[in-house]
Amino acid sequence: MKKDFLWGGALSNVQAEGGYLEDGKGLNVYDTLVVTPEPGIAPMFCDTAVATDHYHHWKEDIDLMAEMGFKAYRFSIVWSRIHPMGDDAEANQAGLDYYEAMIDYLKEKGIEPVVSLVHFDMPDNLLRKYNGFMNKQFIDFYARHVERVATRMKGKVKYWITYNEINLAPYQSDLVAGAYLPEGMTRSEMFVHMSVNTAIAHAKAVEAIKRVDPEAKVGGMVGHAPFYPLTCKSEDIIAADFKNKMHNYLPYDIMCHGQLPAYFLNFAKNRNVEFVFTEEEQNVVRESAQKLDYLAFSYYRSNVQASFDGINDPVALEDAVLFDSRNMKNPNYGMNEWGWQIDEEGLRYSLIDFYHRYEKPLFIVENGIAFDEKLVDGKVYDDNRIDYYRRHISSLKTACEHDGVDLMGYLAWSPIDFLSSHKEIRKRYGFVYVNRDFHDLLDLKRYPKKSFYWYKKAIASNGEDLDDIEY
Ligand code: BG6
Repeated sequence: MKKDFLWGGALSNVQAEGGYLEDGKGLNVYDTLVVTPEPGIAPMFCDTAVATDHYHHWKEDIDLMAEMGFKAYRFSIVWSRIHPMGDDAEANQAGLDYYEAMIDYLKEKGIEPVVSLVHFDMPDNLLRKYNGFMNKQFIDFYARHVERVATRMKGKVKYWITYNEINLAPYQSDLVAGAYLPEGMTRSEMFVHMSVNTAIAHAKAVEAIKRVDPEAKVGGMVGHAPFYPLTCKSEDIIAADFKNKMHNYLPYDIMCHGQLPAYFLNFAKNRNVEFVFTEEEQNVVRESAQKLDYLAFSYYRSNVQASFDGINDPVALEDAVLFDSRNMKNPNYGMNEWGWQIDEEGLRYSLIDFYHRYEKPLFIVENGIAFDEKLVDGKVYDDNRIDYYRRHISSLKTACEHDGVDLMGYLAWSPIDFLSSHKEIRKRYGFVYVNRDFHDLLDLKRYPKKSFYWYKKAIASNGEDLDDIEY
């Protein structure tokens, strides 16, 4: 791997911080999210008031990242700490101070900060009052927030990510985009409006950051899971192709080409959806494409897509495919307890596909696997996680060394345990175990798992030594 390869990890701060009303922070959409458990998982509650208390343990957590040898660390500046209500006239200085201290400390430890600007953290007030990214006015609150954050961190943050998993906004709209489906609107109509609005928001963020700090590097980000056709029947291939375009490529296509692609315009036309995309907005989107530095994505798994028997109307069929909840499985791969299939070659495939499609540097900013783990005598033997990472790192090395992909770095998900997007503590992703469970906060002490030492060795060898270790 190249010498300056950015090995490290990533975290979403709302999922780890807690301290949820401290120092002027307002409630955000993750705090107020009503949890819908994943299929097969019983309803459960986990509070965001404490989460894994990263708000108070951040120095200790960064020390652990430094011990692992991180070159880069991606985290999110929680929007509702900076603008507690979202439409505030002024930024909350205590929030800016908090993250600036964190950035300074990372620099002191030789770790490059990679900062995400929206990661499930938009002020809840913006959802209730404006319906989030379904409302164009909201885009200005976001752009103003980005500008203020970029201004304070100018010269300190080199790598920015405008919007975490922007492509998931139309699907998990409350958490990802602070919006509910407006009454009387179909999901497809919402898909069109949301895709346009989030594309404008991303473009405005690129513009703001580059204006404030021309030296900064800005990336767009998607949550990526390639859809393979379930069979080689042409209807499944057409379904998978459609799903990949709408789900995986659309935001990158807009970000890189600076305009709405023909397949998207056709989708809107077939449904008679009229949307507003002013000339000024079109210009911002066009110009932002020239300024974008890299493409970031998360990768956990691949998916499969099949067509639907018995739906003959092409619009109805596309809608069924777009919002398919059948959760079909690929017979070739195993999975974790949450049904996430393990497909390391899918990562290589994604890298090849994205790089040859867009010819921009790529950045893997999330990759990892969750298990329900127990602490035994202060230890967690997570050999299954090591195996997952070994396979995925080997795969990305092939993509770089054989397939010629320009990859900037690899950020594992995640340095420490935190609450899942569904607020589950038992779905653990960390290299470091945090001692708490569902019902009891215990002592919140940090314990490095076996994977902690394994990843440390992998980083020290620049990805060459992936062998097992003694623990
Ligand atoms: C990504 C998000 O979608 O997946 C993270 O950016 C999230 O915030 C991660 O935690 C894993 O998903 P989950 O649902 O297991 O937390």
